[in-house]
Amino acid sequence: MIESQSIPTTVFDVQRIREDFPLLSRTVHGKPLVYFDNANTSQKPASVIEAVNTHYREHNANVARAVHQLGEEATAAYEGARDKLARFINAPSRNELILTSGTTQSINLVAYSYALPRLQPGDAILTTVMEHHANIVPWQLVAARSGATVKAAPINERGELIVEKYIEMLTPEVKLACVTHVSNVLGTVNPVREIARECKKRDIALLVDGSQAVPHRPVDVQALGCDFYALTGHKMLAPTGTGALWARREHLEAMPPFFGGGEMIREVRFSGTTFAAPPHKFEAGTPNIAGFVGLSAAIDYYQSVGFDAIHAWEQQLLSYATERLREISGLRLFGEAKEKEPVISFLLDDAQATDMATLLDLQGVAVRSGHHCAHPLMQFYGVPATLRASLAFYNTREEIDAFIVALLKVRKLLM
Ligand code: ALA
Repeated sequence: MIESQSIPTTVFDVQRIREDFPLLSRTVHGKPLVYFDNANTSQKPASVIEAVNTHYREHNANVARAVHQLGEEATAAYEGARDKLARFINAPSRNELILTSGTTQSINLVAYSYALPRLQPGDAILTTVMEHHANIVPWQLVAARSGATVKAAPINERGELIVEKYIEMLTPEVKLACVTHVSNVLGTVNPVREIARECKKRDIALLVDGSQAVPHRPVDVQALGCDFYALTGHKMLAPTGTGALWARREHLEAMPPFFGGGEMIREVRFSGTTFAAPPHKFEAGTPNIAGFVGLSAAIDYYQSVGFDAIHAWEQQLLSYATERLREISGLRLFGEAKEKEPVISFLLDDAQATDMATLLDLQGVAVRSGHHCAHPLMQFYGVPATLRASLAFYNTREEIDAFIVALLKVRKLLM
């Protein structure tokens, strides 16, 4: 394993890393692929693809239900992924980690099992203007059922949360506070520790959407001090349909299950059913076993490269791409926070974002266009959509150059 601390950024061997990602060497419309849609989903290293493949070829069986050898191997691999993920985010206990299909399921679980039973008419849930819909709509659904309201803390023009305002909005009616760790549109990194401290003072539980943070930075849920941390695997090199919710033990013990079914029970009788202890109480049905085997391999991959090296390289890419984009006249950047992950939203002249993304695709460049599941953020900036280039540690400066060339070409075509 490479000792990440000791890698100077100048020797970050991105070409070597790219060899681990089979898809990166393909062409699109006859052009070398430039994959800048990593905030949507990341590409997968061969080790992850192989782990899933080997699972189905050699170990496939259901988990926690069979005493035969294959059942034990599959269970060990699945529970091993829980152990690894718990260590990855420094959860105090593996039993506080519920494996889910992704952040959306994790947040909905908190909405229906934690928030809904507590909400009374007049109560509120606090979120922010920069959230993905997954950190807004579940709250609206449970608010509508309970007579509570959803409040949204504002941001400034640079796309930073106005933290004083967020804190001011932590009033006694607020029964749950929510915030994204990193914005999927702006790349803004929010000051979760500070927010968590303020929530704690007021005895308000804090949920953090970590989907866009875990691919880029080491996460330590104990150091953050939040109550719930939701994450997704497919943005961090793992297969789709994997994710997790970390929650403090006292919350998990008090929360009723959301999904009912096999493997989440202690005893079922028509006179009344008793439930398994967390985390199994919240994991009804057969999980995405192969997906979590892949997630395990993804964590190994991150650890072999090291977050210090990843972060340093991604920050170099972010600065370079931002600098190159700033040179283009008529380009409007969205999100210029002091602390950012490598996500850049922009518009060029008054070209439609989707037209531009379609033409960029013809040049081999994959970016996302649209509202990015963040309507309130688009409303804040007064635009229906943006283009978004989101980078990963396997991207290169040469790809940024190719992206800029493609962008200028597309602009000419649209003029
Ligand atoms: N898939 C969503 C995005 O692209 C979260 O930002």
